[in-house]
Amino acid sequence: MMKKLSFSSRFLLCLSAGFLYLACINPVLAYSKDEWKSAAQIYASTCHYCHDTGVGPVLMGRQLPASYIEIRVRNGFNAMPSFKPSEIGVSDLGLLAKWISESVTLSNQIKK
Ligand code: HEC
Repeated sequence: MMKKLSFSSRFLLCLSAGFLYLACINPVLAYSKDEWKSAAQIYASTCHYCHDTGVGPVLMGRQLPASYIEIRVRNGFNAMPSFKPSEIGVSDLGLLAKWISESVTLSNQIKK
């Protein structure tokens, strides 16, 4: 028979499950509107897993216009999901688009 958990240990379990969810499983929700630390952090958490793995096309080093990147991110296209301002804030998206647009090295050539 399983020992019945006390209220406090059940509370701690729920709390740690909640933290685990925010920290690992849902990085997009963990950082709401304009709370990202840098463009590189947004890219690493929300774009990299598709755009550097062959799911989506390489973005870095192609001098894609920043305004085009913003439109694609807000509206999505085919398999590219859209991101709401609650996920990537207005000024954060501006920073991200500029950062990608001005990058010079193709991401598939960056040494790991
Ligand atoms: C779930 C996978 C996925 C994620 C996450 C994702 N993308 Fe995409 N993206 C795609 C795919 C697939 C395409 C190609 C869509 C098409 O043209 O049919 C694409 C296309 C694009 C394009 C157009 C590229 C071109 O060559 O015209 C841009 C710009 C873009 N994504 C930016 C981003 C940015 C910035 C992020 C992060 C905020 C991001 N994407 C996150 C899958 C993803």
